Amino acid sequence: MNAQIDHALEEIRRFRPSPEFAAQAVADEGLYDAARTDRLEFWADQARTLLQWEKPFTRTLDWSNPPFAKWFDDGELNVAVNCLDRHVDAGLGDRVALHWEGEPGDSRDITYAELTDEVKRAANTLIDLGVREGDRVAIYLPMIPEAVVSMLAVARLGAIHSVVFGGFSADSLASRIDDAEASVVITADGGYRKGRVFPLKPVVDEALEKSAGSVRNVLVVRRGENEVDWNADRDVWWHESVATASNEHEARAFEAEHPLFILYTSGTTGKPKGILHTSGGYLTQAAFTHRNVFDLHPERDVYWCTADVGWITGHSYVVYGPLANGATQVLYEGTPDTPHPGRWWEIVEKYGVTILYTAPTAIRSFMKLGRQIPHEFNLRTLRLLGSVGEPINPEAWIWYRHVIGGGSIPVVDTWWQTETGAIMISALPGVTDLKPGSAQVPVPGISIDILDDDGTAVEGEGGGLLVATEPWPSMLRGIWGDPERFKETYWEKFGDKYFAGDGARRDEDGDIWLLGRVDDVMNVSGHRLSTAEIESSLVAHPWTAEAAVVGASDETTGQAVVAFVILKASQVSHVNDPMEASEELRRHVATQIGAIARPRQVFIVNELPKTRSGKIMRRLLRDLAEGREVGDTTTLADTSIMEVISAQLR
Ligand code: PRX
Repeated sequence: MNAQIDHALEEIRRFRPSPEFAAQAVADEGLYDAARTDRLEFWADQARTLLQWEKPFTRTLDWSNPPFAKWFDDGELNVAVNCLDRHVDAGLGDRVALHWEGEPGDSRDITYAELTDEVKRAANTLIDLGVREGDRVAIYLPMIPEAVVSMLAVARLGAIHSVVFGGFSADSLASRIDDAEASVVITADGGYRKGRVFPLKPVVDEALEKSAGSVRNVLVVRRGENEVDWNADRDVWWHESVATASNEHEARAFEAEHPLFILYTSGTTGKPKGILHTSGGYLTQAAFTHRNVFDLHPERDVYWCTADVGWITGHSYVVYGPLANGATQVLYEGTPDTPHPGRWWEIVEKYGVTILYTAPTAIRSFMKLGRQIPHEFNLRTLRLLGSVGEPINPEAWIWYRHVIGGGSIPVVDTWWQTETGAIMISALPGVTDLKPGSAQVPVPGISIDILDDDGTAVEGEGGGLLVATEPWPSMLRGIWGDPERFKETYWEKFGDKYFAGDGARRDEDGDIWLLGRVDDVMNVSGHRLSTAEIESSLVAHPWTAEAAVVGASDETTGQAVVAFVILKASQVSHVNDPMEASEELRRHVATQIGAIARPRQVFIVNELPKTRSGKIMRRLLRDLAEGREVGDTTTLADTSIMEVISAQLR
């Protein structure tokens, strides 16, 4: 990673917006001026212009009890109405909301009127299942329209959704269901991935056997047509309930600070955090950034964000931002390379996609396959490209712009987090001169700084820790059920400033370069994983005595999970071959947490490098995993240990 970053910092290319693009751009310099003149009035203005309030707010921000912010708190709105009904009422009912493409090639176009109708039916079904304001509903679905419908139906009722990515295991699902005490789970029999049906309902069944028992009903969409067990007291088919439910549903307005969703993300401990987002502020910033960062012209654009709704990018930039803005978008169920490696580009051509938002890891995989694959398709409709999830190296940025974008269209690198709810740092297309590799500048209305370890602001050029110095509308409102952890994790280090957990550097032009996490959080293919969570999964295996996990840099996935494991002496004689043990442990992590957490490598070793106080020195293990010369070992209890471990890896 370091070599990559050094290289990135030498990047000197700059790209001015073309006059044609600038002339039609949604954003302009005036946004920065307005936000600078009166930041709170700027956000109040965005909230009033972009959203429909049933009861207008009179207070913009209440920061009297930091770090618990309240935005627009005496206003009332319904989030689903903002994403649906109001567009239909404005005469846009026939506009396509979703061009859905299934992996096997089936597809559906769904208009705003149809989506509104379906959401009302689903809301009525949820009411029949006893879901009320404030109740939690877990959603464990593939990328099918019903995922969007479910989220909005829950929001419409003022209930709280907790979407769990379909790649997570039964254990992970169970712990999320229990933490939120969900009363209903919405799932599918299965979904398509890499040309096969992957089962979901059986995973839910298994999770519910393990869970504490808050779930009353499971609502099941038929998608994969795989066989599933059925519990008639608990399970309800979507096509038998939602399809026959009434499409009349009067939505009520909720307070702006009414909880909208919980989304679990990895932190520095083994237990995932339930990040809590609320309604008015979240939707304001999601809509504002979606419009201005992606230069959205809803009447003519076809937007496609490739993220799964199981992640925050799918929440803010597949569901809430685009639908609040009345956008037409593509929703794709499957993987980029099924049934052929040009699948994404075929979809861009088929729907005439104009705006594409994806992750650097995907771009790097396409780079590896070569430009001839995208070149087989007509990508000339594209006019803006976005990147998210991890630093994009300048080579990938340039390739994206040239090979996918045809050489002259803007690429915006957007920095944000599950916790921030919406984009915080990004260029504004048509306004900012673009710099490959740098996320560049805070979006209007957002205050970002770089501090050194004791909290002093780094003046001018220099590196340190990234913080948000002022509250922002879509900020997390807490960690579900754990206000103390919320304070400790983000606010203890710098008092009233939000500590993001990322290192960053400001260059001579004032542009910000993200340098990766400074804590024990890894970023694999733009997904957050915790070293502690994978370590505790490894240690839960009967063979393991001790485990240490590091994120090693990886050409395609950004980082990769590499584990070092000491086997229990009592087990060593049963394990015939270290390769076998390593395979078994990789499989174990995938089953316990989910395939995304499966280590790239598990090294079986006899020792781990520890300081005199017994702390594992992951830095040294990272050196090994990345094939580098091992760094300073003087603080090790036994300085010869690294040679022993390296010898074992050879
Ligand atoms: O380290 C940063 C990295 O992803 C982390 C947030 O992960 P998550 O909550 O899963 O959200 C990902 C999608 C918003 C951050 O702490 N990250 C995200 N975007 C960028 C990034 N690192 C560098 N550049 C980015 N554009």
